Amino acid sequence: MNKKLDLLNNKKAEALNGGGPERIAAQHKKGKLTARERLHFLLDENSFEEIGMMVTHRSTDFGMDKEQYLGDGVVTGYGTINNRLVYVYAQDFTVFGGSLSETHAEKICRIMDLAMQNGAPVIGLNDSGGARIQEGVVSLGGYADIFYRNTLASGVIPQLSAIMGPCAGGAVYSPAITDFIFMVENTSYMFVTGPNVVKTVTHEEVSSEELGGAQTHATKSGVTHFACANEIEAIQHLKKVLSYIPQNCEEPAPSLNYQAGNERREKLNTILPENIQQPYDVRTIIDEVIDEQSFMEVHKDYAENIVVGFARLAGKSIGIIANQPAFLAGVLDINSSKKAARFVRFCDCFNIPLLVFEDVPGFLPGTDQEWNAIITNGAKLLFAFSEATVPRITVILRKAYGGAYDVMNSKHIAADMNFAWPSAEIAVMGAKGAAEIIFKKEISTAENPQEKWLEKEKEYSDLFANPYRAAERGFIDEVIEPAETRIKLIKSFKMLENKVVQKPRKKHGNIPL
Ligand code: COA
Repeated sequence: MNKKLDLLNNKKAEALNGGGPERIAAQHKKGKLTARERLHFLLDENSFEEIGMMVTHRSTDFGMDKEQYLGDGVVTGYGTINNRLVYVYAQDFTVFGGSLSETHAEKICRIMDLAMQNGAPVIGLNDSGGARIQEGVVSLGGYADIFYRNTLASGVIPQLSAIMGPCAGGAVYSPAITDFIFMVENTSYMFVTGPNVVKTVTHEEVSSEELGGAQTHATKSGVTHFACANEIEAIQHLKKVLSYIPQNCEEPAPSLNYQAGNERREKLNTILPENIQQPYDVRTIIDEVIDEQSFMEVHKDYAENIVVGFARLAGKSIGIIANQPAFLAGVLDINSSKKAARFVRFCDCFNIPLLVFEDVPGFLPGTDQEWNAIITNGAKLLFAFSEATVPRITVILRKAYGGAYDVMNSKHIAADMNFAWPSAEIAVMGAKGAAEIIFKKEISTAENPQEKWLEKEKEYSDLFANPYRAAERGFIDEVIEPAETRIKLIKSFKMLENKVVQKPRKKHGNIPL
C-alpha cells in the first residue's frame, strides 16, 4: 500500500503543479493568479473537493500524445461559499493556455450536470486561449456541449462567470448566456474576433483592452455586469452577488435575521429638489429606504439613466429598478430598457421580489433611438415586467409620464402594489408640452401668447400634476408620506410573501428580442 500511496501522492503533486513552475511564474508576472489560487480565495477554507484531477486529453495529432498534463487545463469540483454549496470550474492558463479540448469540455459539462441535478450555482473562472487548436472540430463540439447546458440551466440554477484572462471567439458565448459576468481590468478581455482580425477586415486599429477589456464592456457594450480592479475584487463581488440569490429556482431568496426598529425615515420628506426639473441621485432615496448599506448595484456604469441592483429590506433580498434623474433626466432608452429587462427577468427566475422607484419623463426621442429599435427594445422591459410573477411593488416619486408610466411596473401590467409620493405627477406628458399641444389654437390667437401658455400650463398642471387622479381610479393604491415608504414596503412585501400566480399554459413567451 505504501508504494501505491506514493504513486497517488506523486500524481496529485503533478496535477497541483499545473503547467509547471515557469508557466506559473509567467502567469504571476502578468498580475494573474493561477486557477488553484483563485479557487482558494473563492471557496470556504478546506471546502474544495476536486473532481477529475487526473483527466488527460485524448488527442494524438501534432505530437500531442507526448504532451500530457493531469487535469487538462481546467480544475473542476465543488465546495462552499459562506457554507452554501457551489460547483466550480477554473481554467488553468498554465496548461495549453487553458484552451478547451474535448476532455476539458467534458469536465466542465460534468460539473454543470451535477449542479443541475443538485440545485446549486455554477461558477466559471475563465482564463483560456479558446478552442484547443490541435483538436479542431472536437473542441468546437465541446463548446457547444457547454452552451447547450448553459441554456438548459438558465433560470434553474444561478450561473456566474468571472473572466480573468483571455476569453475570445466562441468561448465568449458561455459567459454570455450565464446570469452575471465579472471582468478584471487590464488582465481580462472578451471579443468574438481579436484586434488582428479587426484590422484585416475593417482596417481599425484597436488594442485588446480597448476592443474588449473590462471598462469597454462595463460602459459601452454592457456585456459585463462588473468591472473589477483586480482578481480578488472580482471574487469578492461574485461572492456578494451570491449572498442575495437562492441556490436554485425552487428556493426562496435568502433572508438575514432582522431586528425591527423605528422604520420611519424623516429625511425622505425633504429629499426631492423643489424644482421638478432639477436632477437628483435616486441612489440617495434607495439608500434611505433599504437596510443600511445593503445596496449592491449591478451594471453600474452602463445605461446610467436606470439604476438596478440587489438590496435587503427587513433582511430579505429584493431587486431594485429605479429611474435615475441624475443621468439623461432618467429617460428610458434602448440600453436602459435592455439593462432593466434582463435584471427583472433574473430576479423573477430566482424568486427575488421587485421594487421599482419611478421618476421617468418618458422615452428618449430621436432618429438614433428609433432606427435602432427603441420600439422593440422598450418592449423588452414592458414584457419582462408583465410576465414577472414575483411580488412587485412600485413607488412613484415624481414624474410618471406617457407610455413609460405603463412600462415601469404599473398596476395595469399586474404590479401588486403601487404607491405614490404626494410629489408624483402621473400624466401623458409634462404640463408645458401638454398645454402647447392641446391649447395650440388658443395660445396662438391670444393677445399675449406667452401669458396664455402659462395660464393653460397651470390649468393642466393643477389637474394632472399630482397622484390623485390615478388614486381615484385605483391605479395607485395609496398616496404616502415619503417618510413612511420603508414601513409601507416592509408590510406590503410581507403581505405578498405567499403570492401564487397561475399563468396560461404555454411553452414559453416570445419576448421581443
Ligand atoms: N490551443 C492550444 N494551445 C494554446 C491555445 C489554443 N487555443 N492558446 C494558447 N495556447 C498555448 C500556447 O501554445 C502556449 O503554449 P506554451 O506555453 O507551450 O508555449 C500557451 O498556451 C500560452 O500561450 P501564449 O500565446 O504564450 O500566451 P499569451 O499570453 O502570449 O497569449 C493568447 C494568449 C490567448 C492571446 C494567445 O495564446 C492566442 O492568440 N491563442 C489562440 C487564440 C485562438 O485563436 N483560439 C482559437 C479560436 S477560439
